[in-house]
Order: sequence, then C-alpha cells, then structure tokens
Amino acid sequence: MLLGGNAGHGESQRYGNTSQYRNEGLWRLVAQNDRKILTMKKKYKKSDTLQLDASSTHHTFNILNVTAKAVRQPPLLKWAGGKEHELKYILPLIPSFNNYYEPFVGGGAVCFALQAPARFINDKSPDLFNFYRAVATQDTEFFQALATLLDGWQGVSKIVEQHKPDLSRIYQAYALDACSPEEIKYNLLDFIQHRQQEFDALFARFFYPNPENFTRELQRNVLSKTRRMKKLEQSRGQLPEYDILANLECALKSAFYMHIRHLYNRITEYDMSPGVAAAIFFFVRENAYASMFRYNRRGEFNVPYGGISYNRKDLARKVAYLQSPTVQLQFRNTIIENMDFEAFLLKYPPQPEDFIFLDPPYDSQFSTYSQNEFDQKDQERLAHYLIKRCPAKFMLVIKNTPAILNLYSHAGFNISAFDKKYLVSFQDRNNRAAEHLIITNYCE
Ligand SMILES: C[S@@+](CC[C@H](N)C(=O)[O-])C[C@H]1O[C@@H](n2cnc3c(N)ncnc32)[C@H](O)[C@@H]1O
Repeated sequence: MLLGGNAGHGESQRYGNTSQYRNEGLWRLVAQNDRKILTMKKKYKKSDTLQLDASSTHHTFNILNVTAKAVRQPPLLKWAGGKEHELKYILPLIPSFNNYYEPFVGGGAVCFALQAPARFINDKSPDLFNFYRAVATQDTEFFQALATLLDGWQGVSKIVEQHKPDLSRIYQAYALDACSPEEIKYNLLDFIQHRQQEFDALFARFFYPNPENFTRELQRNVLSKTRRMKKLEQSRGQLPEYDILANLECALKSAFYMHIRHLYNRITEYDMSPGVAAAIFFFVRENAYASMFRYNRRGEFNVPYGGISYNRKDLARKVAYLQSPTVQLQFRNTIIENMDFEAFLLKYPPQPEDFIFLDPPYDSQFSTYSQNEFDQKDQERLAHYLIKRCPAKFMLVIKNTPAILNLYSHAGFNISAFDKKYLVSFQDRNNRAAEHLIITNYCE
C-alpha cells in the first residue's frame, strides 16, 4: 500500500510501492478471484438484482461482489452520498480495465466492490484519509481506542439496566408532577454524581480530557428527553415502562455521543494522536443522525445522535471487519491520497486502459463534505478534465440538474439515468424521474 499525504498530514508517507503486489503473488490472487466471479456468475446468473447476462461476461473480471449480497464487501464506514444502494445500476456498466481510479472515494462503495491490479483512490477529507490510513496500516492505537469506545457504549446500556428503578423513579416523579423542573435537574445531577465512578469508567484514558463536559451532556440530554417524554405522555397517554427506559437509554447514549463529538471538534486542542482521532471520527460517522454532515458558524460539526434505533447498534462486527484479512488485502495494492481531484489525477495520470469512477459532490446545497465546498467552478473544472484531458475510460455518477446537463450534454458522452428504484430512460431530458445520471465515455 502507498499512502499519499498533504499539508495537513505532514510529509507523504510511503509504505511500499505499486510493483510490490507482483512480488507477493497478487496476480495469482486476481486470477483466483476471476475464477470465483465466474463461479458466482454461474450460480447467480438468474439473479434479477443485477441482471448480468452472457453479453456482459467481459464486465465481470474486475467485479468482486456484484451478484449476491452474501458475498458483497461493504464500505468501511457510513458516508453521506455513499453508492451502496446504487451498485446494482453502476456495476453492470463498468467495463473491463487495468488499474482503478477513484478521485472522490468517500466510503468507497464501488471501490470495495471491485478488484484491480492497482488502485488509486483519493478524497479531500483529511479525516477520511486519516481513517483509511489507520485501517490500511492496522494502527494499534486506532483499534485500542475503538475497543474503548465500544466498551463505553456497552457500559451505557449496562448502567441503564442496573439502575432501571432509580431512573424510572426520577422520571415518574417529574411526569406525575411530584417534583418541579428545577428539582428533576437536581435529582439527575445527584444520580450522576452518585455514580460518577461508573460514568468515569466509560471513557478510560483516551477520551477524558474534559470530564465535566460529559457530566454536563448527561444532565442536559436526560433533562431534555424527560421533558419531551412528559409532553408526549400528556398528549398521547402513558408510555409503557420499556419505552421510558429505551428513551432514557437513548438520552444517555446521546450524551456519550455528544461528548465524543465534542472531542472530535477539538482533536488539535486536546492533542489527540492520529489513531485516536481516526477512532473518534469513525464513531461519530457511524452514530451521527443519518450520517449527515453539518457545521455551525464556528465550523464545528453539529449533527445530533442518530436516536433510539441506534441504541443497540453493534459496532463490534464492523470493527472486526476493519481488521479482517479481506480488508487488509483490499489495501495492499492501493494508493491513497488526500488532495483535490485534479491534482490527484495529474499526480497519477491514468492510462487509456485504466478506469476512473467519479462520484463528486452534487450540484446542490448539500455539497459540503467535511467542510469541503464543491461549487459550480469545481464542476466546471471536472467537466473540463473529463472532456478535454481524460485518456482513460470513465464513469461519472451525478445528480441530474440543468447546470450539469449544460456541462455534459454536448460532449458526445453516453448518458443513462436512474431514480431511487429503477434505471430510467434518458431520452427525455426533462424526465424528472431521472434523478441521477450515469455519464460514460465508452459504450456498453
Ligand atoms: C458523493 S461523495 C462520494 C461517495 C462515494 N462514492 C461512496 O460510495 O461513499 C463525494 C466525495 O468527494 C469528496 N470531495 C469534495 N470535494 C473534493 C475535491 N475537490 N477533490 C476530491 N474530493 C472531494 C468529499 O469529501 C466526498 O467524500
């Protein structure tokens, strides 16, 4: 694996070279995978999920996991705009190729579904780059920090389980007007302070530079949850006990998440190591509401906790996946960079037999990832590269907007389209169902 780097990460770190895989028998591995694909193809050839047919045999040589969900290698983390659900439209249109390029890799749904002799991936988000670095190098501190976070997360559920009667009593006194809003505030603080050691133990050494913040978050989150539950009970009638407890658990987990989010916004201030920072980033990505990106005026990430359905989320399986040989193998012949897409494509110029998959931020107000704006000028830079300079086969997946059509409709490329559920016809350019466009410079 090769890791690039930019100013934010000091000098480029090199961990190997592209020819390394040849010496390590990766060609053999690719051949084995090809055989596996053919077997899978036979087994699943009637699958209507992907509709691969005999005429598309040549497409499949780079495709590892098109045919069955059971063999699919999922992305390593949740990423807004991830293309996992669109793989069924994308993969069958991918041509055979030599090396694979992805300048806007994000969570890498497409990248991790493909096999290639060498892969060149890039994203402008430094946090994402640091996360991939930690996985690619199997950073010990990263995995230790993750283990601590997972323990803490389970610990919150245990605290709720152990102190059910106390928590329930505090809430019921408030719900039945036996105590005032001021008193419940006091009662909650009292509950927290009496169990301070249990709460302190949730974070151990990595995550405790500002313990008062966690206490504040606990009080604030539980208080606002109890207020909302009381209102709900007043309008809809009494909530069952298990609902009350699930909501209180949600409030405690939200406090845990908010504390980690607080640290995420202060990685430099608290002098967190890259491994710990990567663990914090991963945890926040997995637990933020709808894996959104949103920032306040001070530039702090401010997406709330995902809510009650995230309470019992088991990240342990995902962490085991990050450590698995499958994932480690994925990174062995991969160059990872953290720069603007254009600089990346100039630094590693693709060749005619290579393939570039491009999934840039959309031409809309949601185009902010990790505070990276991607505006109309960037869309024009990209179109200019693809129309004038790109020597390789490429596939661009992008939202269908007038500005995008304006950039690409006269370039002589092939354009197809899909909405949330179907491949749709793109004959009629005003077809509003054509939410996303697939633009290629090759015919399939
Ligand atoms: C739609 S997402 C890609 C999602 C990805 N296909 C997946 O499956 O997860 C677009 C990505 O472009 C990155 N990005 C934004 N501006 C960029 C730039 N100028 N150069 C390179 N990457 C950029 C964002 O950080 C984001 O991860």
